[in-house]
Amino acid sequence: MKIGVFDSGYGGLTILQGIRDLLPEYDYVYLGDNARAPYGTRSFDVVYGYTLEAVKWLQSRGCDLIILACNTASAKALRSIQQNDLPRLGAEKRVLGVVRPTVEAVGAFTKSRCVGVLATEGTVASKSYTIEIGKLSPDIKVYEQACPMWVPLIENGEADSKGAEYFINKYVSQLIEQCAEIDTIVLGCTHYPIIKKSIERLLPDGVKVIAQGQIVAESLKDYLHRHNEIDVKCSRGGSVEYFTTESVEKFLALSRQFASDMDDISVRRVEFQGDGLK
Ligand code: DGL
Repeated sequence: MKIGVFDSGYGGLTILQGIRDLLPEYDYVYLGDNARAPYGTRSFDVVYGYTLEAVKWLQSRGCDLIILACNTASAKALRSIQQNDLPRLGAEKRVLGVVRPTVEAVGAFTKSRCVGVLATEGTVASKSYTIEIGKLSPDIKVYEQACPMWVPLIENGEADSKGAEYFINKYVSQLIEQCAEIDTIVLGCTHYPIIKKSIERLLPDGVKVIAQGQIVAESLKDYLHRHNEIDVKCSRGGSVEYFTTESVEKFLALSRQFASDMDDISVRRVEFQGDGLK
């Protein structure tokens, strides 16, 4: 059994890198739904439908444990998949997201108990971070800011441009204007680690910016430790198979900015067929 890592596109590679840095021994299958990204502006039903197709496809490749690296998919589709679909797809199969591990970690970072979340429109509209932090740490106030221009800028290789600088400044200012006491900011989107330094430059000293790769990796390690029945089934060859729903050439060209170990990888294309991915 391999561990599946799913994202709407390339951003999940930042999460996969965090996971592989900590857990290099396992075998992974990465699926990027690049042909249908971005998910961040799509409706609940669409994100749910696409994510379910990806989950079924990863399961057909032997991934009984799947990480939804995409925040939008975790926020909009994970609960429905866990409650409605997994009982039917196999009781032993697991799908985990990135919101919960982040929420569990955030309490240890903030002293002011004012936390900011930067994310896609879809994740912010779902209010998942506010709801989940509220359940675990009701004393923390959460301020969310949608950053709709960041994913297109990063995907188009414009992360360091003047245009990006304008939009980074715009959304960070809008977040800080909501509450000057924010001392911890969650990057609640797979792409944002690429511009972490530019975000940090705009913030007062002492404000922590949290990327999810390491947090998700620690959480997965803990999960495997607690679920020995799953851990023993995971194969350990240190391999990664990459799949994309877009062109292989495009994936090879654009994936490099998201992770450092993308040279000499082999990528295969997954086709849409009938009611799913083939
Ligand atoms: N992967 C998405 C997320 O983390 C960002 C890209 C998209 O909108 O599809 O929310």
